[in-house]
Amino acid sequence: MNKPENHILVIFGASGDLTYRKLIPAVYDLHKQNLLPEKFAVLGASRTKLTDEKFRDKMKDGIKKYSNFKNDDGKMIDDFLNLLSYISVDTENPENFNSLKSYLTKLDGELGTNGNVIYYLSTPPSLYGVIPTLLGKNGLSNSSNGNWKRLIAEKPFGYDLASAIELNKKLSKYFKEDQIYRIDHYLGKETVQNILVTRFTNGIFEPLWNRNYVHHVEITSVENIGIENRGGYYESSGALRDMVQNHLLQLTGLISMEPPSSFDSNSIRNEIVKVFQSLKPFNEKDILKNAIRGQYGSATIKGEKVPGYRDEKGVEPNSRTETFVALKFYIDNWRWGGVPFYIRTGKRLPTRVTEVVIHFKPTPHFLFAQQDEMNSCNQLVLRIQPDEGVLLKVGMKVPGQGFNIQNVNLDFHYADLSDTYLPTAYERLLHDCMLGDSTLYQRADAVEAAWKFVDPILNAWKNDHKIPIYGYPAGTWGPEHADDLIEEKDLKWRYPCKNLANDGIYCEL
Ligand code: BG6
Repeated sequence: MNKPENHILVIFGASGDLTYRKLIPAVYDLHKQNLLPEKFAVLGASRTKLTDEKFRDKMKDGIKKYSNFKNDDGKMIDDFLNLLSYISVDTENPENFNSLKSYLTKLDGELGTNGNVIYYLSTPPSLYGVIPTLLGKNGLSNSSNGNWKRLIAEKPFGYDLASAIELNKKLSKYFKEDQIYRIDHYLGKETVQNILVTRFTNGIFEPLWNRNYVHHVEITSVENIGIENRGGYYESSGALRDMVQNHLLQLTGLISMEPPSSFDSNSIRNEIVKVFQSLKPFNEKDILKNAIRGQYGSATIKGEKVPGYRDEKGVEPNSRTETFVALKFYIDNWRWGGVPFYIRTGKRLPTRVTEVVIHFKPTPHFLFAQQDEMNSCNQLVLRIQPDEGVLLKVGMKVPGQGFNIQNVNLDFHYADLSDTYLPTAYERLLHDCMLGDSTLYQRADAVEAAWKFVDPILNAWKNDHKIPIYGYPAGTWGPEHADDLIEEKDLKWRYPCKNLANDGIYCEL
């Protein structure tokens, strides 16, 4: 495995939750696997005033809770913590960026990191334009004299199409496109990358992967948790912005893209963009018929009363923010013309599961009496989480008299590879950025094309109060109106379980 060049990682928003739960534990995991450069440091930067010691203590706690190596003894973690320091930076006081510059110059001189820096924006999104501008104005953004500066921007990247275009413009003033890494952590998941491998290393799938053999595609990414303490953020976001515009469309892109000409960053990202640009735009009629939104109400789940969305902290009592979305849409191109894509996401559903299911068309003729149309179709389930794996449903003869058919599972579970280390999404993505590989990051045109697709729905939901938002009790599979999206006889959403192969038999949620 390549080692990245020496550099400093500056995390803006270092006192926040993402740094604590995901970023520093991921950097520690890289450290443990000897994947960090020889000369390396993390500089936490936030408005909060913190000493290095306080920052390190908090990060130690995060590592002990969330790292893949959380059981390491304190001494080992302490050694790593020496790489961390902290500086208080307030964007309201632009002169703070002078102090940041001096600090970075000093650190760089002491360590010999050759002026290479990664800036990670993990702040409230309102600062995504402000910080890069202040970096630029202070001469901290230029890659020059053989050194490099890279910028990672967390999601949400923009609030709608107009703000995403605006943000791209702001960033491009001081950073070139090849310096900007827009993160969608779903692309960092092993099983999401495995979609590409499944498709492009197995000759048996490609001939079937099109409108001639695929009946429909179903993508589910649901959670059993509510919005936790993120009421403020979620009220201004909702499920369409939070999950569909990014994660679910990225999955759609990987499932439906053409084979790239080679496995380099631009070839892959070119193909993903083409998919987004081919998404059939929603007109008013489609929005009413093919875009269903819902919001969870209170319920008792496993004996425990859970609050409804409107009772959560930071949420308006008459909020119309959606916590559930189901869409039916089409990709207008030669491969997928006429094949419906059904996608679904929601909070407070029965379980946490993300999967992509390719439903193949039924056989053209039924030889066996018990073969019913949709239930005998082959399905390929690419399970992203949990119980990561791949499952193919095939019809088999039930032993005994006659020809009774049953759908059985051919399944592979990552967990069976017990000695294989599964890196976290942030670990993978941080390391890629350190290596200068942007394949698994989003390009400006892709982000904008994704917003262009969801914008009409966002606008209609915001402006047309006649469009219903359906309630659903927490702990259920969302509003039943989502079922109406799938109109065909015998066709319904899958109700996946925690265990990939147990659906339809015994379901552990
Ligand atoms: C984030 C969303 O991007 O993804 C969250 O903001 C959501 O609302 C999370 O819970 C889901 O990620 P994962 O990796 O747990 O599926």
